[in-house]
Amino acid sequence: MIVQKTEIVKEGKTESLVFKKKVSKKGPGSKDNEPFYNPSMELNRDLSIVVNQWIINNCKKHVHLLDGLGASGIRGIRLANELDGDFDVTINDWNEQAFSLIKKNLELNKLDNVIVSHKNLNALLSENKYHYIDIDPFGSPAHFVDSAVRSVYNNGFIACTATDTAPLCGIYPNVCLRRYGARPFHSYVMHEIGLRILLGFICRGAAKYDKGVKPIISYSTDYYFRVYVKIRNGKSYANKSMENFSVISPKEIFISSDDNEHDIGPLWLGKLHNKNAIKEIRTLLFKKELNTKNSLWKLLSLFEEEANAPPFFYTTDDFASFLKMAPPKIDKIFEKLTGKGYKVFRTHFSPTGFKTNAPLDEIKKVF
Ligand SMILES: C[S@@+](CC[C@H](N)C(=O)[O-])C[C@H]1O[C@@H](n2cnc3c(N)ncnc32)[C@H](O)[C@@H]1O
Repeated sequence: MIVQKTEIVKEGKTESLVFKKKVSKKGPGSKDNEPFYNPSMELNRDLSIVVNQWIINNCKKHVHLLDGLGASGIRGIRLANELDGDFDVTINDWNEQAFSLIKKNLELNKLDNVIVSHKNLNALLSENKYHYIDIDPFGSPAHFVDSAVRSVYNNGFIACTATDTAPLCGIYPNVCLRRYGARPFHSYVMHEIGLRILLGFICRGAAKYDKGVKPIISYSTDYYFRVYVKIRNGKSYANKSMENFSVISPKEIFISSDDNEHDIGPLWLGKLHNKNAIKEIRTLLFKKELNTKNSLWKLLSLFEEEANAPPFFYTTDDFASFLKMAPPKIDKIFEKLTGKGYKVFRTHFSPTGFKTNAPLDEIKKVF
């Protein structure tokens, strides 16, 4: 019955059976009963291939990977089929149809390094430990972060997607407060704020168990956030991480002039990416067959540039509109600020965005 309603898609070098009518070009996904496949998440899955190859290459022992919310199983099946090294993959989904489809995809690809599991992810995480845990839900990953933090091995990784961008970007601030315990702020920097709220939530969740976090890659697109975070056991790592967990006032980052405006957060104010890791991950792109290789190359270059930038950005449009002038060319702003000895960085959050260590008055002068 499943075979009649499915079609085969090819991502990377892997063919997978997916449900036909669930194919959508955009959007966070569906909550009905059939396993969901979203073709627009291919870049997201391609990136998990190179990140996991990097994890396996850097780990001296057998690595246990988990695709915790598998749906068709495409992500986990691809990990099992496209990675080299000493590892196994568990693919889990509590949905009956998803469980059958994952098993079909396993047969299709003739893989012997996969364990298929049919459990509530939180129960699975309470029973087992993994070096890499992928959480790719419909909506918020908030319900799974606590068990993932407990389950992950020391120096292991948690990757999670959040498609609940509306709460995290401040369209539904009360939902954000309930889910993440943080206040968002709807503004031109809302995506960076949302991403940092998600990272802050993981940081706080880990610190509770005396674990620290180190973001490897964190990014936002129009309709989802995605983070790869390394988890390290120990009170000192937890304390160090918590130094980056704080609130910030909208005035401080130039998105409001109102003294009575509420603080934003608490959120993560540390680095979004790890520059050295990204350099190594980027070189692995050449060794893999990936349809989104060129886009990923560009995106990773941007993350690498952004890695050591201070938090939050300005856009030439918003700054110019504040000063009631026409927006200048971004290259000119870079030229002038670097000419004055300041650091300026491009950012993946906006094509007209820039991050800088220059004080506000200097930026105003340059504009
Ligand atoms: C967005 S889909 C996953 C998409 C998939 N990772 C991909 O790349 O195509 C989310 C899946 O999580 C499953 N799910 C939701 N809550 C779960 C839970 N508590 N335990 C196990 N599976 C769950 C759903 O059945 C659904 O198939």
